Amino acid sequence: MEKYKVGVIGGTGMVGQRFISLLENHPWFQLTVIAASSRSAGKTYEEAIGSRWALETPMPEEAKKMVVMNAEADIEAIASQVDFVFSAVDMKKEEIQALEEAYAKHECPVVSNNSAHRWTADVPMVVPEINPEHLAVIADQRRRLGTSRGFIAVKSNCSLQSYVPALHPLRDFGLEQVLVCTYQAISGAGKTFETWPDMVDNVIPYIGGEEEKSEQEPLKLWGRVENGVIVNAGSPAITAQCLRVPVSNGHMAAVFARFQNKPTMEEMKEIWANYKGRAQELALPSAPKQFLHYFEEPDRPQTRLDRMTEGGMAVCIGRLRPDTQYDYKFVCLSHNTLRGAAGGAVLLAELLCAEGYISRR
Ligand SMILES: NC(=O)c1ccc[n+]([C@@H]2O[C@H](COP(=O)([O-])OP(=O)(O)OC[C@H]3O[C@@H](n4cnc5c(N)ncnc54)[C@H](OP(=O)(O)O)[C@@H]3O)[C@@H](O)[C@H]2O)c1
Repeated sequence: MEKYKVGVIGGTGMVGQRFISLLENHPWFQLTVIAASSRSAGKTYEEAIGSRWALETPMPEEAKKMVVMNAEADIEAIASQVDFVFSAVDMKKEEIQALEEAYAKHECPVVSNNSAHRWTADVPMVVPEINPEHLAVIADQRRRLGTSRGFIAVKSNCSLQSYVPALHPLRDFGLEQVLVCTYQAISGAGKTFETWPDMVDNVIPYIGGEEEKSEQEPLKLWGRVENGVIVNAGSPAITAQCLRVPVSNGHMAAVFARFQNKPTMEEMKEIWANYKGRAQELALPSAPKQFLHYFEEPDRPQTRLDRMTEGGMAVCIGRLRPDTQYDYKFVCLSHNTLRGAAGGAVLLAELLCAEGYISRR
């Protein structure tokens, strides 16, 4: 099979590095362009990264000698060389919105890790196992942008990728209220313990904007397509507290849930064990075979032991038990830069290709 040619915008950053390493040996995608800021442009990838390589695996050979392009100045040249781009840039929201729209208008689909366009009503925010039907709004977005190929699709915030998958198949029981407390890794801020020594032996009870995202983004994921836009779901009511904890990778969530028609614990575990989404039906290359893993051990899932379950793309659940105020409480875990960021975006791109939204030029 001829591979899709892929660019990574923001390829030198923490999420960008994950993209570059996930694209190494990808069966469908060929890394073709790396772009970043003017600070990196013109250097080889290896030079531009310097001492910033943050992954446990070595830098892919195919990337080392590639010359980094300027993501803002070289849009036309980049768009003409690739079938689509991944975007993971750290810029002001309005700048990211404009940059991603410029790529789309150059007929280059953008699969974005950034939050800038998550609330644009005709931009689908998709977890392939949860709301693949939202891709239908791409036709309306293309009409607005005046494009035939170009569009923007985004993935949701990393904090909610642990608990929303666990709650999703339980919505049939009339999920009414959710309280969640997240325990989030420092890589979620683009940091390591070397670059953020204040996090050693510490908890910081504040992550700017994260609680609002954790409470509101699930309602877009659970929304419906109506008149060419996504209309948010009206329930459940979600309240969230998000804490930064001294962990390199892996976001954990402690979840409390109340239902209109309370399921039994056996029903919940059976539903989790049997749940399959569109990514599993299509057997997409990055899809975990089992999306939701329930652990019976009382002290699992653990961040260090379980974050890499199925290549960091599965969601781990444990400690399901009755609660004194809600119906049930349980714990969830997902890898924030794999399922929660670059891996989730690669899976979304695979879905977009499989469903015919991205084609080869
Ligand atoms: N880390 C996570 O787990 C995570 C999870 C979900 C979402 N996100 C989001 O993903 C995005 C990237 O996060 P990150 O942690 O990877 O950030 P990061 O490590 O700070 O990397 C930022 C990237 O943006 C590039 N950049 C900065 N200014 C630019 C400009 N003016 N033009 C073009 N490129 C520019 C940088 O290039 P240079 O190297 O040339 O400066 C670098 O490649 C952010 O929007 C973040 O909120 C991160």
